[in-house]
Amino acid sequence: MEILVTGGAGYIGSHAVKALAEAGYTPIVLDNLSQGHREFVRQGVFYQGELGDTVLLKKIFTQHDIEAVMHFAALALVGESVSEPAKYYENNVIQTFRLLREMVKHDVKNFIFSSTCAVYGIPEKIPIPEEHLRAPANPYGKTKLAVEHMLEDFSRAYNIKYVFLRYFNAAGADYRAGIGEDHFPETHLIPIVLDAAMGRRKKVNVFGTDYPTRDGTCIRDYIHVADLAQAHMLAAKYLKEDRESGAFNLGIGQGFSVREVIDIVEEVTGKKISISEAPRREGDPPVLIADSTRAINVLRWKPEYSSLEDIISSAWEWHKRKPGNVLK
Ligand SMILES: NC(=O)c1ccc[n+]([C@@H]2O[C@H](COP(=O)([O-])OP(=O)(O)OC[C@H]3O[C@@H](n4cnc5c(N)ncnc54)[C@H](O)[C@@H]3O)[C@@H](O)[C@H]2O)c1
Repeated sequence: MEILVTGGAGYIGSHAVKALAEAGYTPIVLDNLSQGHREFVRQGVFYQGELGDTVLLKKIFTQHDIEAVMHFAALALVGESVSEPAKYYENNVIQTFRLLREMVKHDVKNFIFSSTCAVYGIPEKIPIPEEHLRAPANPYGKTKLAVEHMLEDFSRAYNIKYVFLRYFNAAGADYRAGIGEDHFPETHLIPIVLDAAMGRRKKVNVFGTDYPTRDGTCIRDYIHVADLAQAHMLAAKYLKEDRESGAFNLGIGQGFSVREVIDIVEEVTGKKISISEAPRREGDPPVLIADSTRAINVLRWKPEYSSLEDIISSAWEWHKRKPGNVLK
């Protein structure tokens, strides 16, 4: 019961590693630590290296009996993907191609891919179903879609089975396990607002206050990272049962505006947050909300966290404990 987890030292991957170990699997983690944290990987076997390193992959696939690959490793900064697309295509597409080619060589059949709602681009329908047109609005989303296309072709030709898990906004933390969100640079709203609550940031920029939404700011669907990890366990089981390859959205199906998130952070932390209104960012859709019915009905996914207060509380507990963070 060995599962290769690429990017397992990262935010979401480390929560999956913990869930895998708790479910009796041995996680085999491959991470180059460009963003990840070695100390986040407390279970299984750790390899530091590039996901496209064919020599290392050969070693891993020979020494371990890998039942499935959970592929979290990617670069995921939207803005950077616009200014440095080459870096994104190389890391997210070319290196993933090498991983898939080694899987084919070593007859590893099951692939669970960390995809994203960014593959939909600016949605025409809310909540977004999986059949929605895939038209990503930035190079990051395009690299994710390229991998989805690659998998669809590899599946037809080489009999690889896949599950695309299209996450909406991951948030929260398993703070008791000492893991949580720690990106550098941080671009996600909740940790940025928590940084302001910690006194580590003077103001929070609110990008766009004239969107056609209830308070003019963008609306997003926040899903707890432990619920994402559970969805990976269910996807592994699903593929083991030899069920049909497919895509599943993962969100709670409810949207919160930027102002609402800030209000909830103020409530949870008891701190006042200063904001600065800034212009819209190009390519930011006004509303992104998941239709996760398929994951609920087919994977039997039961997200545990449905309240944003609880999600933010867990993120806050982690944020206060995060190495290097001191509450001011
Ligand atoms: N965080 C979100 O809200 C969100 C939403 C949708 C999709 N995703 C996707 O989920 C996955 C995980 O996201 P995250 O927030 O945990 O990011 P993260 O940066 O914390 O984790 C990614 C991990 O992959 C590693 N990595 C990157 N390139 C690598 C390479 N070439 N070889 C080996 N290791 C490499 C990094 O060191 C890092 O540990 C990513 O694929 C991301 O695109 C995240």
